[in-house]
Amino acid sequence: MSQRQLGGDLTVAGTSAPVRSREFVGEVVGIEPIMGDAAVLSVDVPMTVVHGLRSGRFFEITCRDEVAFDPLLRRPYSVYRIDAERGRLLFLVRPFGRGSAWLSRRRPGDRLALLGPLGNTYDIGPTSQNVLLIAGGVGVAPMVMLADEAIGRGLNVTFLMGATTVPGLLPATELPDRVEYVVATDDGSKGYHGFVTDLAADYVRWADQIFACGPESMYLELRTAIGPHRIGRRPTVQVSMEREMACGLGACLGCVVETRHGMVASCIQGPVFDLDEIIW
Ligand SMILES: Cc1cc2nc3c(=O)[nH]c(=O)nc-3n(C[C@H](O)[C@H](O)[C@H](O)COP(=O)(O)OP(=O)(O)OC[C@H]3O[C@@H](n4cnc5c(N)ncnc54)[C@H](O)[C@@H]3O)c2cc1C
Ligand code: FES
Repeated sequence: MSQRQLGGDLTVAGTSAPVRSREFVGEVVGIEPIMGDAAVLSVDVPMTVVHGLRSGRFFEITCRDEVAFDPLLRRPYSVYRIDAERGRLLFLVRPFGRGSAWLSRRRPGDRLALLGPLGNTYDIGPTSQNVLLIAGGVGVAPMVMLADEAIGRGLNVTFLMGATTVPGLLPATELPDRVEYVVATDDGSKGYHGFVTDLAADYVRWADQIFACGPESMYLELRTAIGPHRIGRRPTVQVSMEREMACGLGACLGCVVETRHGMVASCIQGPVFDLDEIIW
């Protein structure tokens, strides 16, 4: 696996320390179907990439053959899980369009060009004991890594997962045993019949912090659902904004998010934001 340092540090603001990003080549070592048409892709990478990696960070992946130019731009993917001992990154990939479909077709032995780690991280506060995690669809990826981190710190974790139908739900076996796992489906085929955000209100007084990843419409529903139960801005809510990210380096400004502190590039100062800081 080769790697090339990018020019200087990329200073990543927000909830974590600066991170040194680099271009490197990884090797696909496994691909397992999960959640309907999605797959978990396991990629061996340089050990230094995995060292100290935290949930919320993402990688830009080149999703085309070496001899091709289409799609030209890399595609952003959150880290689903890490295997620190083996130097392995796991990504959850759902085929939406050309790039993700190409990625979903990778097989063991294939080489992948990556750039990262990029962005900031979810941040569990030092005094938090009870954390509520909320995932919508493939937004579940960084929530799984966050659940691993929270359980590793001995915290109480409730994990709410929403999907359109049963096949879109994360299998409970993917989560650490100690996680309380509650699901919702839009069609009522499993768990609560309705939006996962409807369930959140019951946990607001229990949770010290709330973390979410899913479509932006889910965050608006979440804000409405939990608003009456919060005391001021407590518990705090961190969300990952999944904007289209052409460069991942703060250059194209295609991913800007409007916040109370102005317009910010979510690939650099995000993708994780305080829900209350975003202007919707
Ligand atoms: C920080 C970040 C982390 C991400 N992490 C993950 C992850 O862990 N797993 C994952 O599967 N995806 C993730 N995504 C989304 C992923 O990057 C896109 O699905 C991917 O870029 C689509 O590229 P494409 O070439 O397949 O689709 P394109 O050809 O670019 O788009 C094809 C069509 O699909 C639509 N589309 C693209 N992405 C989505 C989407 N996510 N939801 C609904 N419609 C979509 C487009 O609007 C377009 O109409 C993440 C995005 C961001 C910004
Ligand atoms: S993706 Fe280009 S500035 Fe964020």
